[in-house]
Amino acid sequence: MLIKKLKGFRDILPEESALWRQIEGVAVEVFRRYGYRELRMPLLEETGLFRRSIGEQTDIVEKEMYTFLDGGGTSVTLRPEGTASAVRAFLENGLHRTDSKARLYYVGPMFRRERPQKGRLRQFHQLGAECFGWPEAGADADLLCLLWDLFDTLGLSTRVQLQINTLGCRGDRAAYVERLRAYLEPCRDELCENCRRRVDHNPLRVLDCKSTHCQEASAGAPTLLAGVCGDCGDHFVQVRSLLDRQQVPYQVNPRMVRGLDYYNRTTFELLSGDLGAQNAVAAGGRYDGLVETLGGPAVPALGFAAGLERMVLMLAEGNAATAATPLAFLVHRGEHALEAALLLRRQLIRAGVEADMDYGERSFKAQMRSANRAGARYALILGEEEVAQGNVAVKNLDAGTQETVAQDGVASILAATGSPASEEE
Ligand code: HAM
Repeated sequence: MLIKKLKGFRDILPEESALWRQIEGVAVEVFRRYGYRELRMPLLEETGLFRRSIGEQTDIVEKEMYTFLDGGGTSVTLRPEGTASAVRAFLENGLHRTDSKARLYYVGPMFRRERPQKGRLRQFHQLGAECFGWPEAGADADLLCLLWDLFDTLGLSTRVQLQINTLGCRGDRAAYVERLRAYLEPCRDELCENCRRRVDHNPLRVLDCKSTHCQEASAGAPTLLAGVCGDCGDHFVQVRSLLDRQQVPYQVNPRMVRGLDYYNRTTFELLSGDLGAQNAVAAGGRYDGLVETLGGPAVPALGFAAGLERMVLMLAEGNAATAATPLAFLVHRGEHALEAALLLRRQLIRAGVEADMDYGERSFKAQMRSANRAGARYALILGEEEVAQGNVAVKNLDAGTQETVAQDGVASILAATGSPASEEE
């Protein structure tokens, strides 16, 4: 019986992976220009890292992590997100010891055992940026400019909406949680089963619940924004005015709470109308207390992660994938022709010309059919005579013309013609 892939896991086939490369290429360049350097982190970490960072009472930690005991009896987890690992790496590698500043980015798979649907997978990929060491509002604005420029460079900025909010400081949040709990307590019975529990453990999440009952019950709830302290209020005003000056459009959404517990002050989501229910294509915010929570010094930090699958969904619309086509196809027939063809293909590839061939002893006609099917512009024909004389017959498959040239010269001739596939990248 055929073994199939797991639910919520996907193969990314060549036509689609061209789009992935395009997005990753743009992202890496935007990150680099903004001063971010790449961090490659393990996929597997000690479970405690995520429990402590993301929060015990969050959906991710409560029910979505792929956690198991490894052979040595240690509880390990496939990373559900990148921030916790980035902070661990920042601390463990002593990046905080120089000047406590670092700008890091990562690209890679994350794992959450959620119910799969459009744009929601159990293995998904994030492009993430984490910025350590700057408490100022300028850092928040700069990170949001980066995020905006990334989507703008991909031609997606007209299709997204940036929503921002502030969660204030720890004190603001604690006071707000009490106010919110007092507001929700009398309507506990109207809430969904999950939210009834959340009133006790994590009432902020009630604001985020998709159930219409919960939305109605919490519609008039006080907002955190209205009750943040002076410093946090000023910080938010500054972030907003810097964004205005940078002409990054945004909306303030005072009901926005995030599904991870480590945030404070500025939080944000980039939403798209093209994605259905899973409409956040990127999200992030400040997490000034997390480095300390994980045993380090007090280093302010902030970051975001964008969901690659969701970006691909947005870009794929009206953007038919084009299969890579070789510029040349080698057709070989007769003694020593295979050897000559392999050699010539290699010379062409090294010169940057995409060239393909068959390896079998098939008829001339069958190989010409393959050349046409592959979409090549030239057939490079190596018969016994050409091989003996060190030549190759170059047939232009569009024009039907043919000329014989020296094998040594063909790479430079074709390189000058340009390969359509390499131009696309
Ligand atoms: P998050 O909101 O959990 O934040 O995820 C960020 C983005 O990852 C989402 O907006 C979405 O595009 C994508 N994503 C999340 N879950 C899935 C899924 N199951 N399937 C497909 N895409 C998904 C974080 O992960 C934070 N670590 C972001 C951050 C970085 N905050 C500060 N620094």
